[in-house]
Amino acid sequence: MTRVITFGTFDVFHVGHVNILQRAKELGDTLIVGVSSDALNMSKKGRYPVFPEADRIHIVKSVYCVDEVFVEESLELKREYLIEHKADVLVMGDDWAGKFDHFSDVCEVKYFPRTDGVSTTYIINKIKDRETD
Ligand code: CTP
Repeated sequence: MTRVITFGTFDVFHVGHVNILQRAKELGDTLIVGVSSDALNMSKKGRYPVFPEADRIHIVKSVYCVDEVFVEESLELKREYLIEHKADVLVMGDDWAGKFDHFSDVCEVKYFPRTDGVSTTYIINKIKDRETD
């Protein structure tokens, strides 16, 4: 049984999120998702997510191809998370290409191309622009 793991904020859930989760699941039997905590998102992206972590976790858990979800509290704990969740494959979007290769002693590391034309930041800005129209 192959265990696949991926990480992300998954705020303002969109089709790019669905695509990477579907592609990740196709690599194995069990898909585990580490959802960034609100505090981690603040330190990583300089803003709090629109949707709080409890809601983001609830949404990701409800996706049909996701089997297990946990809160990612710190970027520094990635190796521990991979070991704790017995990951065989780590999947990340190619915005992270090369950045996780040093975990290849723990599991296989794969990067998938991002879905074109959509991101949480793009959606937030698009809504803001409409408000000022
Ligand atoms: N992702 C993707 N295609 C997109 C957007 C995101 O494949 N168009 C992937 C990312 O590469 C990552 C996962 O989805 O592996 C979670 O990304 P996240 O940072 O939550 O989403 P973004 O939309 O990139 O958010 P932001 O605009 O805040 O950076």
